[in-house]
Amino acid sequence: MSSPNSWYETLTSTPALVAGAIGVSIAAIFAVGGTNRTAGQVKEQVKEVAHTLATAEDSKGKTAQVAASVMSAPSTELAPPKDDPITPSQLSQFDGSDPSKPIYVAIKGRVFDVTAKPEMYGKGRGYNIFAGKDASKGLGMSSLDIKDAVPDYSSLNETQMHTLNQWESFFEKRYNVIGKVTSE
Ligand SMILES: *[C@@H]1O[C@H](CO)[C@@H](O)[C@H](O)[C@H]1NC(C)=O
Repeated sequence: MSSPNSWYETLTSTPALVAGAIGVSIAAIFAVGGTNRTAGQVKEQVKEVAHTLATAEDSKGKTAQVAASVMSAPSTELAPPKDDPITPSQLSQFDGSDPSKPIYVAIKGRVFDVTAKPEMYGKGRGYNIFAGKDASKGLGMSSLDIKDAVPDYSSLNETQMHTLNQWESFFEKRYNVIGKVTSE
């Protein structure tokens, strides 16, 4: 560990502290444990340890979540965004129907490369309706209806705009922008 204040050390040392705490409470039970304990007392202590373990598991889980979000937040693996023009008909070639081609999803005119997630956007998959096109309106409406899978999102209300913006920022953090949708 280079810096004692690094977030990495803080995160990685927390599970160790948690594990230490479990060790202490188990050791405590064995320390006070004699042959004169009643079954009821033993049961209570077992419950207590179970609770400690559950709590520890929970905080470990949270630690892992924090670590995951810290590590994925400023994704350094993303390439600089490109703004190569892509027409809607070109875009439609990348709808996941040909497994040898990339899969693209456009949001507000920006084209994202989601090839890494065929289980989401590939042919026959849950979000395939958004592949090979700009379906900003459908994303904002959380709609899988083909008639909503269109680029014009001007009819969205405030709640739906918020949903669309969440999709946009989710995509910005995870997928490379490989171009901009232009007219034919
Ligand atoms: C926006 O429209 C949706 C769907 O009709 C509705 O559930 C939501 O309450 C609306 N939000 C606002 C702020 O009008």
